[in-house]
Amino acid sequence: MKIAVVGTGYVGLVTGTCFAETGNQVTCVDIDERKVEKLNNRIIPIYEPGLDVLFYRNVEEGRLKFTTNLAEGIKGAEVIFLALPTPPGEDGSADLKYILGVANDLGPILEQYAVIVDKSTVPVGTAEKVHAGIVKNAKVDFDVVSNPEFLREGVAVEDFMKPDRVVIGTKSDKAKAVMNRLYAPLVRQGNPVIFMDERSAEMTKYAANAFLATKITFMNEIANLCEKVGANVDDIRKGIGTDSRIGKRFLFAGIGYGGSCFPKDVQALARTAQDYDYDFKVLQSVMDVNYAQKKRLLPMITNHFGGDLKGKTIAVWGLAFKPYTDDIREAPALDNIRDLLAAGAKVTAYDPEAMDNVRQILGNQVTFAHTSYAALDDADALVIMTEWPMFRTPEFEKMNLLLKNKVIFDGRNVYELDQMRELGYTYYSIGREVINATVEQQA
Ligand code: UDX
Repeated sequence: MKIAVVGTGYVGLVTGTCFAETGNQVTCVDIDERKVEKLNNRIIPIYEPGLDVLFYRNVEEGRLKFTTNLAEGIKGAEVIFLALPTPPGEDGSADLKYILGVANDLGPILEQYAVIVDKSTVPVGTAEKVHAGIVKNAKVDFDVVSNPEFLREGVAVEDFMKPDRVVIGTKSDKAKAVMNRLYAPLVRQGNPVIFMDERSAEMTKYAANAFLATKITFMNEIANLCEKVGANVDDIRKGIGTDSRIGKRFLFAGIGYGGSCFPKDVQALARTAQDYDYDFKVLQSVMDVNYAQKKRLLPMITNHFGGDLKGKTIAVWGLAFKPYTDDIREAPALDNIRDLLAAGAKVTAYDPEAMDNVRQILGNQVTFAHTSYAALDDADALVIMTEWPMFRTPEFEKMNLLLKNKVIFDGRNVYELDQMRELGYTYYSIGREVINATVEQQA
């Protein structure tokens, strides 16, 4: 099939590359000339494990092309994906200017029937607006379909190639047949393609992300309460996650969710509810709790050092909003580093992928270390913000020599309590007892 993908951001690039990998002829279109030039020179602007191999192969074999010219890019395409940004406006609602702009441009240049697919996360009713934008100038028949994307950063290629499900919102049988054909190679294991109307598909995406954000937030509140009542949130997680109605995933307590989707989508859904005069109380609480949760470690750190961080050096492991990405959007690490700096501490940070991105924002306010161990040199404490696997089994003997104090504040619960007890660390984590609390304070 010949397809076009408009927008070469995260979702667009993964979508285009993966559909090329299943044998389609894909042209990606972007207005950013520099970006398209880079892509044509085989430079991938994002870090996503596994994407490079597919990207190079499909560019090499001529199935994946890039252009800034919309008319050229969509020529002959049976399916045109819109994977454009929907940044939150001032009121929290998703800004549709990019999507509707392209919809307006598409009308006059469509030469034959095409399925126009909203891939971006867009508020309920957007498919109708896109349809209206195209139809006013269109000379040919077309359908607008909502096909939300559920991929996670870091495992996006795998999520795309083996989706749990594909959601397609359309009432048109013609569009359904085209989309079935396109997705057939990805659902051969039997995972469903679920058809519904456009509005329900748009709502499904928000419901999924808001539900997952709520699930995490619920566990974060359980964790906070565990600290007070003297229970261990790890055990609670295992104890409830084995109930198949609850499920084991997305129950890990920590310093809050971040990233480009959950915060934005929860806010946008709350805004939609408001627009329809519905008071969605749970969502407001989720946002409030997550805001506070991101800063959960800070009072622990300050109290540990007797209320004053001036002159202290804090080593930070992990800057990305989660492992396997260099994305720092809404990352708890950023808020925490700013607070640590404001409290007079010096920060030495290490992250295997995200340091360049943080450097662009915080510049030389933070010292960036070349290795995880180098970050510990002469530090008064270690704070863990992202659970990169390399932090899970470090050489503790080496750490003991580098750190001034054997004290760890762990925002992701990467270590076992017994292990910390045996190693003699003062160890603060989320939703679990503090280990060797007094040792360091007395020292
Ligand atoms: C999310 C959705 O999972 C995906 O389906 C959607 O398409 C885009 O948004 P992503 O933002 O890549 O994907 O990250 P995800 O892996 O879902 O994690 C989101 C945040 O929740 C991260 O900050 C992560 O650290 C946090 N999280 C996740 C927890 O705190 N606890 C958990 O148990 C799981």
